[in-house]
Amino acid sequence: MSRKVVLSGARPTGALHIGNYLGAVSNWVRLQDEYDCYFFIADWHALTTGYEDTSDYKANIDEVVMDLYAAGLDPDKCCIFLQSAIKEHAELHLLFSMITPLPWLERCPTYKDQLAQMDEKNIRTYGFLGYPCLQAADILIYKADYVPVGEDQVPHVEMTREIARRFNFIFGPVFPEPEPLLTESKVLPGLDGRKMSKSYGNTIALRDKGEVLRKKVMDMVTDPARIRKDDPGHPEICPVFAYHRIFNKDETGQIEADCRAGAIGCVACKKNLYNKLSAFLEPIHKRRGEIEANPSMIRDIIEKGNCKAGKIVTETMAEVRKAMKIDWE
Ligand code: TRP
Ligand code: SF4
Repeated sequence: MSRKVVLSGARPTGALHIGNYLGAVSNWVRLQDEYDCYFFIADWHALTTGYEDTSDYKANIDEVVMDLYAAGLDPDKCCIFLQSAIKEHAELHLLFSMITPLPWLERCPTYKDQLAQMDEKNIRTYGFLGYPCLQAADILIYKADYVPVGEDQVPHVEMTREIARRFNFIFGPVFPEPEPLLTESKVLPGLDGRKMSKSYGNTIALRDKGEVLRKKVMDMVTDPARIRKDDPGHPEICPVFAYHRIFNKDETGQIEADCRAGAIGCVACKKNLYNKLSAFLEPIHKRRGEIEANPSMIRDIIEKGNCKAGKIVTETMAEVRKAMKIDWE
């Protein structure tokens, strides 16, 4: 029996952070043993909002490949590829754009939110409106069964199902309807207690180590009520404590009690966290070292993935053109 297909993508926004790791990539690493997995770098999707300045794209793509490898994705087990290398995604996107009603796109919550938020950039474009249509092509071209994503991407998977249904209704059954695999959202805040996000500059990158990592941890925001070491603290509002909950499960109870009692200082508490984070990141840094020492691995990984992805999309597109009766070549 053939294995179920899992597919997900990441936009190349540069180095992955530990929020990306806990929220998505660690899940992908688990899935690669059980499913036929496709993980790709969505560089065309990045263009929808960042088309004016593409100068750092190449470096960002390489960075993401290195991070995915470092995080534990194994190119012998899963297919890691680059969206823009597989031109059929664009062809299917175009065909989907013929059948996707405009109101579906206009009422997409991510579209409305981003338009409201990013008024400084010109994203009133055809490409940005069509973002979910491209995402549907990414997913359906591999006939994915499951799409592991965070909550924010669920409307896109939902629209993918609607597009699949509409295509199948008009042209006959070609696509399965994929389901989102919700990544359990772990509550890891940024260094300042807000949501961890590159745009806030409050992230810990997966590659951070040594002095860089130590400084980030030591500069973290804590409970502002703790001025002196014996002031009683409120761990529930302290981002450092939120990290202990995840990276230092064994000592969580003790730290909570000591903090409330004013029995530990924040400096010691952070040093402890730094040690736990370093240990957690160590195997990731080890694999990262492997690829840094041998940078041709980056191309090799992508090319291997592109090659496998290329074979699948050739088959799917032949089927699509036939179903649409446009296979007149
Ligand atoms: N839109 C996704 C994000 O911003 C990235 C993405 C593009 C994607 N195509 C996809 C995710 C297909 C899952 C499946 O994170
Ligand atoms: Fe936060 Fe630790 Fe300081 Fe308590 S002791 S406020 S948990 S850093």
